[in-house]
Amino acid sequence: MTNSNVQRVLVTGAAGFLGSHLTDRLLDLGHEVIGVDSMITGSADNVGHLTGHPRFKLLTADLARGLPPEIKEQTFDRIWHLASPASPVGYVKQQVITLKVNAIATIELLELAEKSHARIFVASTSECYGDPLEHPQKETYWGNVNPVGMRSMYDESKRFMEAAAMVYHRERGVDTRIVRIFNTYGPRLAVDDGRVVVAFIKQALHGEPLTVQGDGTQTRSLCYVDDEIRGFLLLMESPDYHLPVNIGNPDEVSVMHIAEEIKALCGSKSAIQHAPLPPDDPRQRCPDISLAKSLLGWKPTISRRDGLLRTIEYYRQKLGISAAV
Ligand SMILES: NC(=O)c1ccc[n+]([C@@H]2O[C@H](COP(=O)([O-])OP(=O)(O)OC[C@H]3O[C@@H](n4cnc5c(N)ncnc54)[C@H](O)[C@@H]3O)[C@@H](O)[C@H]2O)c1
Repeated sequence: MTNSNVQRVLVTGAAGFLGSHLTDRLLDLGHEVIGVDSMITGSADNVGHLTGHPRFKLLTADLARGLPPEIKEQTFDRIWHLASPASPVGYVKQQVITLKVNAIATIELLELAEKSHARIFVASTSECYGDPLEHPQKETYWGNVNPVGMRSMYDESKRFMEAAAMVYHRERGVDTRIVRIFNTYGPRLAVDDGRVVVAFIKQALHGEPLTVQGDGTQTRSLCYVDDEIRGFLLLMESPDYHLPVNIGNPDEVSVMHIAEEIKALCGSKSAIQHAPLPPDDPRQRCPDISLAKSLLGWKPTISRRDGLLRTIEYYRQKLGISAAV
């Protein structure tokens, strides 16, 4: 690092949901942030409030086509690799880009980290566990993933990302961190990418039926974005630990419960209707966070109710809906 306090930081996917919240925190901490994003699933609005910020610069580039020269030629103290379509709707629409950004761009960023002597953080996912046969999921569980299924461009490229980070650490000494992110929600999630919380909020606020896939007994564990980003920052600055770490909220609930809770918190009279389950949809999702607790002293602090209320308020304003329907 050039200075003991101020870091020169690269954030890929900076205009996305998690990338923009992370960028805000890094700027609050006084760091200098170069963001790079293709805008494929992100939005300029997510970083609109940073226009003209003296320590923030955003480059528009598709990392699936290779690192742009203006990034390759620079050195960084920290590299955060978050760029990737992140919802089934997003990655099934952009299959090759998803493969390349998680596989090829990860290799290029690991090489940039090696050259820069930067520490690099790669955003992996609970999808590495597939439809898990172990519950809750510990980092030591190898997963139950369909390698040729409709989500494999995402699940397998994230598994490759983890393998690549481990190889560059073991063989080349690159200072790597791997996070396995479980379902995270909050303001700035794209409205139309099908992720369950925002899909239900949008339907509830518009008075449309909430669409529950399958019978709704499948479970998810929802982490509010501020908790997740706090976990990221602790992991990045943690001492020498290179294996994957789960960061997510173990507060597991059924999808039907999430729909009913969002409907009630929105004060909505919407009906609940069912749709077919998508292929390879996991039946259960719940992180074991013992490692994050012992290694980082991290656990989530924001209740589902508080997180949902904050998120609903954001979408009420964004969608211009003042009263419940
Ligand atoms: N939010 C979650 O619950 C969750 C769960 C597991 C993993 N993750 C991982 O976290 C990261 C961020 O996810 P998110 O929820 O913020 O999603 P997001 O779609 O809001 O953000 C991803 C950003 O990456 C950008 N991007 C995608 N492909 C790119 C490319 N080829 N070149 C440059 N930019 C590109 C998008 O435009 C977007 O701004 C992703 O890697 C995702 O796989 C997220």
